[in-house]
Amino acid sequence: MCGIVGYIGHREAYPIILKGLKRLEYRGYDSAGIALYDGKDLNMCKTKGKVADLQELLESEISTNGKLGIGHTRWATHGVPNDVNSHPHYSNSGNLAIIHNGIIENYDALKKELIKRGYTFKSDTDTEVLINLIEDVMINQHAKLGKAVQIALNQVVGAYAIAVFDKTKPNEIVVAKLGSPLAIGIGEDEYFIASDASPFIEFTDNAIYLEDEEMAIIRLNKDIKIRKIKDDSLVNPYIQKLQLNLEQIEKGGYEHFMLKEIYEQPLAIKDTYRGRLLVEEGIIKLSGVEDNMKRFLNADRIIIVACGTSWHAGLVAEYIFEDLARIPVEVEYASEFRYRNPVITEKDVVISISQSGETADTLAAIKLAKSKGAFVFGVCNVVGSSIARETDAGAYTHAGPEIGVASTKAFTTQITLLTMMALRLARAKGTISSSDYRRQLQELELIPEKVKEALKADKHIQSIAETYKDSRNMLYLGRGYNFPVALEGALKLKEISYIHAEGYPAAEMKHGPIALIDENMPVIVIATKKGHYEKVVSNIQEIKSRKGKIIGIVTQGDVSVRELADHVIEVPETLENLSPLLTTIPLQLLSYHIAVMLGKNVDQPRNLAKSVTVE
Ligand code: AGP
Repeated sequence: MCGIVGYIGHREAYPIILKGLKRLEYRGYDSAGIALYDGKDLNMCKTKGKVADLQELLESEISTNGKLGIGHTRWATHGVPNDVNSHPHYSNSGNLAIIHNGIIENYDALKKELIKRGYTFKSDTDTEVLINLIEDVMINQHAKLGKAVQIALNQVVGAYAIAVFDKTKPNEIVVAKLGSPLAIGIGEDEYFIASDASPFIEFTDNAIYLEDEEMAIIRLNKDIKIRKIKDDSLVNPYIQKLQLNLEQIEKGGYEHFMLKEIYEQPLAIKDTYRGRLLVEEGIIKLSGVEDNMKRFLNADRIIIVACGTSWHAGLVAEYIFEDLARIPVEVEYASEFRYRNPVITEKDVVISISQSGETADTLAAIKLAKSKGAFVFGVCNVVGSSIARETDAGAYTHAGPEIGVASTKAFTTQITLLTMMALRLARAKGTISSSDYRRQLQELELIPEKVKEALKADKHIQSIAETYKDSRNMLYLGRGYNFPVALEGALKLKEISYIHAEGYPAAEMKHGPIALIDENMPVIVIATKKGHYEKVVSNIQEIKSRKGKIIGIVTQGDVSVRELADHVIEVPETLENLSPLLTTIPLQLLSYHIAVMLGKNVDQPRNLAKSVTVE
């Protein structure tokens, strides 16, 4: 998830683009760049770091003149954050400049073709491949820029929002969209392009939001032409009157980044398996695992090290790896592991899980494991972060930037990635039948739609939150795959509402916590159909007989729990090992609504930091 900005018109483009990038920095902040056409030359400046770093550099490096320009603030997916991988990117001739937000899945195959035809590449990005593909079409098919973009995009698999211009024809910009957002601001003899309206809201409130598979050729003093990329058919532009203010736009119209990120999970999960989960072919493609398959298959055990929510994802992974791939797993709090003088051998594989990639305890645990000869594989959300650089190999979750301190979409994308790893290893080890394997891939592909379904209970969950917002304590119970989800639900409530909560394996209740149960104790019980349903129902009866207030997370159409519980929240049915991806959604929303009702600072709760870089 990057931020893109473009301008063509009668004003100086530089100040508009620079301010626009600052407003879009919540979308990505590991590198930035601008390209401006000053009437004669194309001038570009790009750098690793924040937009402020770019500004400092740029004003001493290049002319900032020009009424045509594009800018980008990056959230790396392909190619670590550094100057050369920053955007914009030029074509080999230097005539074309592009900015891109998204992921080109088949960029490697396209790149190999272009190299055969003599193209060279400065960066590791998928974007530089796209701009040279467009140039190649212009040259070999004698196509104009607009047509060449269309032809090239019909060869591309993946997601994109792009803006491209040709310095030899500086009166137009071509933009296109599939999966990533793109808004066009319509001014008097000027046009603005951006990932959302925040860069141009002060200049115009007339905007066109491109739909998927649409492109627009934007020419000065001409009406915009929007076309379908697939068949070049013309689309009637729908100009919207913008109602949102700046803060609202940055949060996508949501009240808090946390709620926005909860609703971003369907796309984040899809982006995390994009180009990796190939259901048709019946394969999972994870190069980090493929390249180190021997280490995984010969491992005595897998040790997972992480903190907080990432540790909970590690617990879910323990169930998956042992259940599907039959590999013994231990899950360690990184802060304990690093000082416990643990027994680690060269036959161990250590998986570190971290959203930020900067958590000090996890980093130290990695260094310790490496010093003892273990192979360390990183699951991380920030490309080029310390943990990504320290590990021997790894795979990125593609959740995009997570701004809210309370982790939500990082958790579900971590589970998605770890599930794909376990399935790939199970396939390699032959511990899963072909039919089960195919079923798993098909069901995983359906998860984004099922998460959307689970999100539809939001209003209902809000009313339950109203009932329990003044509780002093809460208990969360789950069994099997959903025990870690109970822990995660309790953590979410604690960290944003400051209400004390504990998660427990449901059967553990009888060994102590049941003493806490009375009419003032709300108990959230995850009781989905797959797994140990009957046993969970009897745990619910134990709570009920002690007057505990029961909120059941159940499978759609459930009857038994509905008869026992005070409230039920339904989630769609799925395979047991995939159910954490759905059961965690109502728990995120419940804690969110309670915290909002209590007037807490949901995105920046007290005493917490998004990335704990100290021990
Ligand atoms: C979770 O909501 C918290 N923000 C915190 O527990 C977090 O999961 C933990 O600090 C680990 O962070 P990481 O994933 O960036 O390493």
